[in-house]
Amino acid sequence: MLCITGLLVTASASAQTVTIPVETAQTAIVLQVAPNKDLNTIYLGKKLSDPGEYGGIPGVYRQGNNYSGMFNSAYTPAGSRNLLEPAIAVTHADGNNSLDLKYVSHSVKRISDNISLLSIRLRDPVYDFEVTLNYKSYYHEDVIEQWSIIEHHEKGSVTLQKFASANINLKAGSYWLRQYHGDWAKEMRPEETQLSHGIKTLDSKLGTRADLFMPSVFMVSLNHPATEDEGSVLFGSLEWSGNFKTDMEVDPQDNLRIISGINNYASPYQLGAGQAFETPAFVYTFSADGKGKASRNLQSWARNYKLVDGKGTRMTLLNNWESTYFDFNEAKLRELLKNTKKLGVDLFLLDDGWFGNTYPRNDDHAGLGDWQENRKKLPNGIAAIAREAQRDSVKFGIWIEAEMVNPKSELYSKHPDWVIKQPKREEYYFRNQLVLDLSNPQVQDFVYHIVDSLFIKDPALAFIKWDCNAVIYNAYSVHLHQNQSQFYVEYVRGLYKVLQRIRTKYPDVPMMLCSGGGGRVDYGALQYFTEFWPSDNTDPLERIFIQWEYSYFYPALASANHVTDWGKQPLKFRVDVAMMGKLGFDIVVDKLSGNDLKFCQHAISTYNDIKPLIWQGGQYRLSDPRTESVASLMYVNTDRSSAVMLSYLVNYRYEEGSQRPILLKGLDSNKKYKITEINLYTGSTSAINGTKVYSGDFLATVGFNPEVSAGRTSVVLQIDEVKN
Ligand code: DGJ
Repeated sequence: MLCITGLLVTASASAQTVTIPVETAQTAIVLQVAPNKDLNTIYLGKKLSDPGEYGGIPGVYRQGNNYSGMFNSAYTPAGSRNLLEPAIAVTHADGNNSLDLKYVSHSVKRISDNISLLSIRLRDPVYDFEVTLNYKSYYHEDVIEQWSIIEHHEKGSVTLQKFASANINLKAGSYWLRQYHGDWAKEMRPEETQLSHGIKTLDSKLGTRADLFMPSVFMVSLNHPATEDEGSVLFGSLEWSGNFKTDMEVDPQDNLRIISGINNYASPYQLGAGQAFETPAFVYTFSADGKGKASRNLQSWARNYKLVDGKGTRMTLLNNWESTYFDFNEAKLRELLKNTKKLGVDLFLLDDGWFGNTYPRNDDHAGLGDWQENRKKLPNGIAAIAREAQRDSVKFGIWIEAEMVNPKSELYSKHPDWVIKQPKREEYYFRNQLVLDLSNPQVQDFVYHIVDSLFIKDPALAFIKWDCNAVIYNAYSVHLHQNQSQFYVEYVRGLYKVLQRIRTKYPDVPMMLCSGGGGRVDYGALQYFTEFWPSDNTDPLERIFIQWEYSYFYPALASANHVTDWGKQPLKFRVDVAMMGKLGFDIVVDKLSGNDLKFCQHAISTYNDIKPLIWQGGQYRLSDPRTESVASLMYVNTDRSSAVMLSYLVNYRYEEGSQRPILLKGLDSNKKYKITEINLYTGSTSAINGTKVYSGDFLATVGFNPEVSAGRTSVVLQIDEVKN
């Protein structure tokens, strides 16, 4: 399939105009070089059938004079003619604060049939300073990654005061922002508001667990809030696991400017002559067909290009965090391994508490940093547990929190200079711990070797859960000496260096990204991970809402959903909710009744049958838990011959349930289907008649009733094509 990212030169009456469209299957972003060589964005939206018409877009707007001629700059420089929020602001080597950026040239590199990279060189006419804007377009997924590279050859260092990844421009009558906020166990709470004139900022200053209060993902709808299947909407997010800042400015001409990048908070960056500062990418997708389409765009892109092993398989698991916390020993773990086998999941994941001797990790006050097996709990080491796992034919995985340290640890006593803290101020802790200084290559090496030694000691180790529980207080790096303002940037770069090193040596090993729940879920980190932990809140009712919102931005196979004892819902409900993504368990298997155990075992084998659909199928949201009594969604395979539909009661008031049929999506209207209920307790009968045949047309137009009620609070349906 042709990926058109090309140069188009159109002649206008006054001067030659260079128009540069970046097109994907359905959308286009169009840049134009003005006669004075400014680079502007003239369009972002649904692709036109004739690219020759893009050049005419500015001619149909009558928005008056914008004084500077640069309200829609493709990368707004500060300090010359700019009147709005800049994308870049610098202090030159001579102390001057002005910057202007003029188009020099551009090139298009075809990376594959599906991917093109447009690079545009901009240069200051006065200073030896330039910026290259990069637009990497993924044709079939309608996704663009945008980032910039900043360089100079001035006599001395230039201070980058602001250095955004992208500056995009949208035009509409009104703009509706859907943003997220949260805290521990309260991840991904949405708020939707109309953007008013001025600037709305989404940001984080927390350093490590950067998403704790707010992730960088957002949606902006044009003209009215987009629904699941209608309306124009842009989804965006910064691929960066540290401080971020996204400014949304409705300008005096009613256009929306979105400027996203690393947060410049406390971070003026000294850039030496000849060095290049490469920003992280801002990833976005535009859909003219509502939020569902945009989410499927991002999910496919993530599976195809971002996540580790995005097209591969995942392991179901039993985790011991909720069932033991820190209180376990070898005998207990042997039992848990037997339970892993009994349950029928693939892997046992040993969580926090297995390490530390001088300062044993028996609670969260001590031991973090001392990655030697605790001799009391594990007298024969991790290796003995791993061997036992092999004997039980289950895989074995382990939890680490390699970036952090408890003051009560040998590591802290040996290397106080490796710890982030202010030299002259009192220490201040988050979960009784501090963060190690990953800007320091020695610390990077130490952290890398934590993982490497685990694999060297136990080559059969099959899974890592990488946790990160603390934010950064008292930011100060001994290693960075006078360059403290580089710290937040260098920390994340250091983290990525470690993760890259791990991935170079262990490219395939599954790793779960965790941060006291979902405190660090972003595509900067996820390029090194196979999955993430959405929240420590595993109450299934809460989880429906949390998983629902994450699903707009991340594919189901990346969402680790565990069945635990949180909440008051029946076991089946908990299992059905966890099946929305990658199924896992964190329960005391021995406490399950015979019937419940049998149900779980059966559920796991059912899940093994349907997981290809959940992991790789197209996701369609059918009934929204925020507006309806029943939450319902489905996953459909590529040829639309089979699907799974999951429905949950979320409103427990009198007689609430699926009173009306739910319209199915993603099926082929010309095909015929039968619908069977799965994941039931043995012996229980289904309210669904599995012998009836429906056309795809009927299911999409009239719908289907999953019969959700107080007596059937969750229903899993398998939908299969019936061939005559
Ligand atoms: C926070 C994580 O989110 C939990 O799942 C668990 O691993 C604990 N940390 C362990 O300390």
